[in-house]
Amino acid sequence: MKRIGVLTSGGDAPGMNAAIRAVTRTAIYNDMEVIGICRGYEGLIEGDVVPLSVSSVGGIIHRGGTILRTARCPRFVKPEGVREGLRRLKDYDIDALIVVGGDGSFHGAYDLCKLGFPVIGIPGTIDNDMAGTDCTIGFDTACNTALQCIEKLRDTASSHERLFLVEVMGRGAGFLALEAAVAAGAEYVLLPEVPFELETLCKKLRYAHDRGKTHSLIIVAEGVMPASELAVQLKDTGGYDARITVLGHIQRGGSPSSFDAVLASRLGGGAVEALKRGESGVMVGRIHGNIVTSPLQVAWEEKKSLDADMMSLIETLGI
Ligand code: ADP
Ligand code: F6P
Repeated sequence: MKRIGVLTSGGDAPGMNAAIRAVTRTAIYNDMEVIGICRGYEGLIEGDVVPLSVSSVGGIIHRGGTILRTARCPRFVKPEGVREGLRRLKDYDIDALIVVGGDGSFHGAYDLCKLGFPVIGIPGTIDNDMAGTDCTIGFDTACNTALQCIEKLRDTASSHERLFLVEVMGRGAGFLALEAAVAAGAEYVLLPEVPFELETLCKKLRYAHDRGKTHSLIIVAEGVMPASELAVQLKDTGGYDARITVLGHIQRGGSPSSFDAVLASRLGGGAVEALKRGESGVMVGRIHGNIVTSPLQVAWEEKKSLDADMMSLIETLGI
């Protein structure tokens, strides 16, 4: 293996730069050249590439976002797009590709692999909704960002004795919402994995009010419903006047936490090691502290479940 490519795709996540750095330096250490492909599969199809060196990935481990930039590329979902991408990889004499992204990006990687091209996936998304790894790159930082915001909201919620609804990202999964809710000591969390009952929530709010609680924080995973919609339901059913905060893309930015910088460094190194062993069509992940590989399809075929203990914990602690 002489020359490898690396790209970041889908939603950016804190730690992607640390992964690019680790891939580049591990590859160069092992006498390979590295080509950075800009703007995910979009840049691959268009031939938007940049050679990466030891120094060009210096000073980025702590930076949020991705120096290679990222994109969502509808063209790559179609077979012609994948074939065009493959042609580009051949034009640039790239022998293997490392894709940093979420399960959508891994689908694209899998399509390339099916055409016989060696590909390794590195899981990077704040959503943490991928099996094959206990944690995806960016999840920990996003949880910490959400936590900091929720703590600020608690200050004002408590001063004004108000009910706050905080909408967090996560697409169709509740990992980010659950983690942030437990960490912030939220009274209630709405998760896409758990059927929502408005009556139960209203009962809980009434009970809390009756025993003297003057403010409450409810975390709403975006996959359940917009916080604005929940506010309307709470007003109509219980007469509650809730304030709403949508954390939005702030959760995707910022410097990676030490956990994410280390995870990304280990997975980046692990991806190159996997290529050296001749592996392809796999993702690297960290399971119980070990760096392991699993087939790319695991990321979407196996459903990662929310921690049942965490779910009952929030129920217990939010009384
Ligand atoms: P993420 O990787 O964060 O899950 P997306 O789901 O938006 O983000 O996917 C990122 C990109 O991966 C898409 O824009 C597209 O180029 C590619 N992709 C997604 N799904 C597929 C698919 N089924 N087949 C091929 N490529 C795909
Ligand atoms: O997958 C990461 C994520 O931030 C999701 O949590 C969210 O639903 C989505 O991307 C937002 O996508 P966009 O950046 O296109 O608005």
